[in-house]
Amino acid sequence: MKKSFLSQDAAIIASTYAKADVDFVKGKGVWLFDSKGKAYLDFAGGLAVNALGHSHPAITKAIKKQSEKFLHISNLYPNLPQIELAKKMLSLTKFSKAFFCNSGTEANEAAIKFARKYFFNKGEGNRVEIIAFVNSFHGRTYGALSATGQEKLKTGFGEMLAGFKHVEWNNAEELKKAVGPNTAAIILEPIAAEGGILMPSKDFIKTINELQKQKGCLIIADEIQAGFGRSGAISCSKLFGLKADITTWAKAIGGGLPLGMALINAKIAECLKPGDHGTTFGGNPAACAAGLAVLEIISKPKFLANVKERSTQLKAGLEALAKKHKFLGEIRGEGLLLGIETKKPVADLVVACRKQGLIVLRAGTNVLRFLPPLIITKSDVKKALEKLDAALLGYFLNYTKGFN
Ligand SMILES: Cc1ncc(COP(=O)(O)O)c(C=O)c1O
Repeated sequence: MKKSFLSQDAAIIASTYAKADVDFVKGKGVWLFDSKGKAYLDFAGGLAVNALGHSHPAITKAIKKQSEKFLHISNLYPNLPQIELAKKMLSLTKFSKAFFCNSGTEANEAAIKFARKYFFNKGEGNRVEIIAFVNSFHGRTYGALSATGQEKLKTGFGEMLAGFKHVEWNNAEELKKAVGPNTAAIILEPIAAEGGILMPSKDFIKTINELQKQKGCLIIADEIQAGFGRSGAISCSKLFGLKADITTWAKAIGGGLPLGMALINAKIAECLKPGDHGTTFGGNPAACAAGLAVLEIISKPKFLANVKERSTQLKAGLEALAKKHKFLGEIRGEGLLLGIETKKPVADLVVACRKQGLIVLRAGTNVLRFLPPLIITKSDVKKALEKLDAALLGYFLNYTKGFN
């Protein structure tokens, strides 16, 4: 079959991503359009980045306005959009200071460094251990990759950073045994998204909070996918009652431009001095202006209420589909970070959905994941469920053999 024009040319891009055979040329709201004008309902949201969908006027206006002043001045000088975005995020989350970078992996690098530096400054330089979880995902650079709990992502890349331990997700007993006098921090996603949308149990969250109190270790909450409105709240870790010392943010916070952030509490902020960490582009003025435009909209109670309502609607629709299509399993997630287990290869279902004009994602090996723009309406969800139903029918026909 003839490949789309972009897919043919994409062969010159290093093959670290298995690129889909589709040539998107435009996006508007919750829709993407290919070169032939076919419309796709975008329930992947650029991997949880496009909270306001595509070409939202508030974002394009903010970027244009800032680009007419300056795009970059470096972090040697204060820049207003960065300060405004930090102020608003800090007031919403009750953290003390913000560190800006460009991506999620960098936000986690910063968090790991800050946790270790905090104990170093206290005279506990041996306290460098980071406890993370099996199936977690924190990024691809060496610190964040060392924290990531997926062996397949580390294979072939030599030694990971020393001092990282991985504990089974939701295993409070194993966690209690793992945290010791040399533990600097426990790092976790409030929802282990890439690992299969794994929800934390109440007991697990309680144990993490207790360990922080009893053992004096820090909690790093990775809000990169679940945070910034996606869970129906600005902070997903707070929603679940986690008492984080550091939270890390990226994806949606730049409104589609690269931006990352670590929010830190006062005691960690105190241990940082000029030169301790940095990045040339971090907190770029245009990215911060775009992020602030998004935050002004998503932080409104009415906006977050819509996220919860659409979540309930989508979950109910998925439950109905799970009753109809027996090869579907458990539905998991919070807000508009939702997934449904499938008993057959989910990659094929992602392609079947795309053929029906619905863009969805995979999580883990057998979970179909939905990360729609947070602006979706009742009718968008209805359309998505219809497209999914049609895709499931074709998927079922392909896999009739072997179902039980
Ligand atoms: C929870 C979480 N942490 C970290 C990252 C890494 O972010 P980035 O790809 O911006 O480096 C991701 C990306 O998927 C993520 O989902």
